[in-house]
Amino acid sequence: MPRGVFLKDLNLLKVLVLGSAAGGGSPQWNCNSYVSKSVREGVPGTSVRTQSSIAVTTDDQNWFLFNASPDLGSQIINNNQMHPKEDLRHSPIKGVVLTNGDVDHVAGLLTLRERQNLSIYAHKRVHNVLNDNSIFNVLNPDFVDRRDMSMNHEFELKDKDGNGSGILIEAFEVPGKIALWLEDESKGENFGTEEGDTIGLKISSASNQKCFFYIPACAKMTDDLRAKLYGSELVFFDGTLWVNDEMSTSKVGEKTGQRMGHMNNSGPEGSIASFQDIEVKRKIFIHINTTNPILLPDSQERREAEDNGWEISFDGMEIQL
Ligand code: MLT
Ligand code: MN
Repeated sequence: MPRGVFLKDLNLLKVLVLGSAAGGGSPQWNCNSYVSKSVREGVPGTSVRTQSSIAVTTDDQNWFLFNASPDLGSQIINNNQMHPKEDLRHSPIKGVVLTNGDVDHVAGLLTLRERQNLSIYAHKRVHNVLNDNSIFNVLNPDFVDRRDMSMNHEFELKDKDGNGSGILIEAFEVPGKIALWLEDESKGENFGTEEGDTIGLKISSASNQKCFFYIPACAKMTDDLRAKLYGSELVFFDGTLWVNDEMSTSKVGEKTGQRMGHMNNSGPEGSIASFQDIEVKRKIFIHINTTNPILLPDSQERREAEDNGWEISFDGMEIQL
């Protein structure tokens, strides 16, 4: 395909939610808590949610993934937009952008082996993690280009051959935490977390004024983030837990939302309260843990979230800006 031809001709910015759940998915394989059980039993209004990822296109043909979930194989099967369309070897997936090194966001890279051209964008902290783990060598460097993503600077995503995608991104650091599997207790109470371990993204179309934010993990609302989000049309935001001690009250774990680097939905420091004074047209929770009662259609918590203008993302949700 000639350089620079694809994508820019159509004037759209489309988001497809491939996976709306947090790490583990919903139902989680070994979880029998109320939500996981309800989903497994097919309770009306519940649905299976795979692990955290979205896909974005500007032309309905070529897509970039934002995070690569361990469920990527089934996400590709379940969404025909992701199916090979042209030659014997083809994929509409041209590249991947990573927001952190969590298992739920990087393990799907292993599904993308088999000599397919891709570009992978991440903060150098996350690239270091991939480089240090030789299993990611399945992404043959002859086909897969790993690119450092600079912060606070807008640039266009390009495929392996340098063709523009029409998707502009601006990455910025947000409060968060080093990936659970990289925590180092000897490094004090932040476990060795450094800037760049968790980032948010502003994703824009190069051909129209449309843009949205994708922030699947965020530990705290800051003045900077508030100012960035103010007046935006659409924000996908960390929806992990309803309340900080939800894992322990559900008797499935001990860690709190804050300990895991996530803002909770409720409470005075939570996302619902924090967004009260931020004008945003559509606010959508994503990366939702299977213990979170907002996943149940009739729960008080779901009503409270919706009454405050929040939507709950689901697998297969598609939004065109
Ligand atoms: C998180 O979002 O906190 C992590 O994905 C947790 C995990 O790796 O299980
Ligand atoms: Mn996660």
